[in-house]
Amino acid sequence: MTRRRRAIVPVAVLLAALVAACSADDAALPSLESDERPTSSAPTTAPAAGPGTEGADGVGDPYYPQAGNGGYDVERYDLDVDVTIRGTDHLDAVATVTLLPTQDLSTFHLDLLGFEVASLTVDDRPALFERQGRELVVAPPTPLRTGEQAIVRVAYSGTPGSTGSNQGGLIGDGGWVDLSDEWSTVIAEPVGAATWFPSNDHPSDKALVGVTATVPAPLEAVAGGRLVERRDEGATSTFRWEATEPMSPYLASLTVGDMQLADQPGPPGIRILNAVPLDRPDMLDGAVSRFPEMISFFSEHFGPYPFADAGNVVVPGLPPLALECQTRSVLALSIMDGGPGDTTADEVTAHELTHQWFGDAVGPAAWNAIWLNEGFATYGEWLWLEHIGGLAVEQSARRAHNGNPALDVPPADPGVDELFGASVYHRGGMFLVELRTLMGEDRFDELLRTWVDQHRFGVATTEQFLQLAAEIMGVPYDGSRIAVLSDAWLRSGRLPPLSF
Ligand code: ARG
Ligand code: ZN
Repeated sequence: MTRRRRAIVPVAVLLAALVAACSADDAALPSLESDERPTSSAPTTAPAAGPGTEGADGVGDPYYPQAGNGGYDVERYDLDVDVTIRGTDHLDAVATVTLLPTQDLSTFHLDLLGFEVASLTVDDRPALFERQGRELVVAPPTPLRTGEQAIVRVAYSGTPGSTGSNQGGLIGDGGWVDLSDEWSTVIAEPVGAATWFPSNDHPSDKALVGVTATVPAPLEAVAGGRLVERRDEGATSTFRWEATEPMSPYLASLTVGDMQLADQPGPPGIRILNAVPLDRPDMLDGAVSRFPEMISFFSEHFGPYPFADAGNVVVPGLPPLALECQTRSVLALSIMDGGPGDTTADEVTAHELTHQWFGDAVGPAAWNAIWLNEGFATYGEWLWLEHIGGLAVEQSARRAHNGNPALDVPPADPGVDELFGASVYHRGGMFLVELRTLMGEDRFDELLRTWVDQHRFGVATTEQFLQLAAEIMGVPYDGSRIAVLSDAWLRSGRLPPLSF
């Protein structure tokens, strides 16, 4: 689904300006005057002959046209981040992005919002670059070749999350969140990875992420994956985190704070590590204490937990929200801190854990498929509630159906403004319960397990999910009851009545 889009400023113009400004680098620059593309000796049908073509400034997402970029796949991000946390947050960082071109590239884009870029190299050679809003346009000294790995190193510094339409990352486009002199975190969904590192900021490009963070002692830094190294050096401590499986950029995380890191015995083969505020060790005793049981319970329904690592980070000072960062969800203390009898903490912990299968292991191919994340996570929440003796799944669906005035939005194409609206969450969940009723529990569980198995570490579409459901039912999709059900529940505006 990549679609070629031109940069706002034609790149030939940009290059001409850069050449004028950097004549010392003339020799290294490809000759790219606008109508002067050298003809290649290859057959004229070869589209990317000669010096390479411009990489697109987006992957063609219908909601976020400039999210992600064209022409390459990222294999790894190595982020080396020095965090100043007192006062306004400030990052001094070097991002090493290992990428594989999928076309010959004379220029390519990364997504980066704000910051000063001090230097940028491609395969250790200085490259020219230009900032255009959230686009960082790179002109490597020689074009990148299809299939030949390139290593892009960006040294940058500044205040993270300060640019763009979000307010400190809390609403809108997501991003870095400066919470206090001791705490910061990242809630980067949907397009906020660019507020803290140069990335191909779209779910469809998954890559390994290593985060090395240096923070003032005695604070700690927690990211996804496994803590492979910790160095305490007087005034600062450095934490190196490594993820074992590839992730979408918005699921990469970094939380800095006054924390206690606690291992938790987990099901075989899964390393669990939770982080809670140092002054709230009781946070390990509530919903988080049942986390290993949750993993086992969901594994029975969804198939094996998809990653080597698991856990949660409980963050004070956040409004009541959470994000399913890959292998380690970020949960606001304000959610986890309910009184006796309040099941919110359990529900949200279960919701974010469900996302590890749906959203993280299997991502949305584009943001209009957000219900594949949130509808499923809502269903997981309802499953867990039933498991701990609360409402049956159907009762939860009925309660959500009755109580909600905002459900006249099609979950499978909600629009940007309703991306995280009630319909995506609740109506999406209701559809899954209707589908379960139609298919029977065993075949429905088989559908979910097959879905994760087929698309693990990739992304998928609503159509693919519905096709698979029909396949497991043993019927052609067109004209099936699944088609009728999904048209009514996922694609039409008006909320249908429940069948149970
Ligand atoms: N995916 C999160 C959840 O589990 C919601 C994130 C909301 N994003 C935002 N930019 N406010 O519900
Ligand atoms: Zn969610």
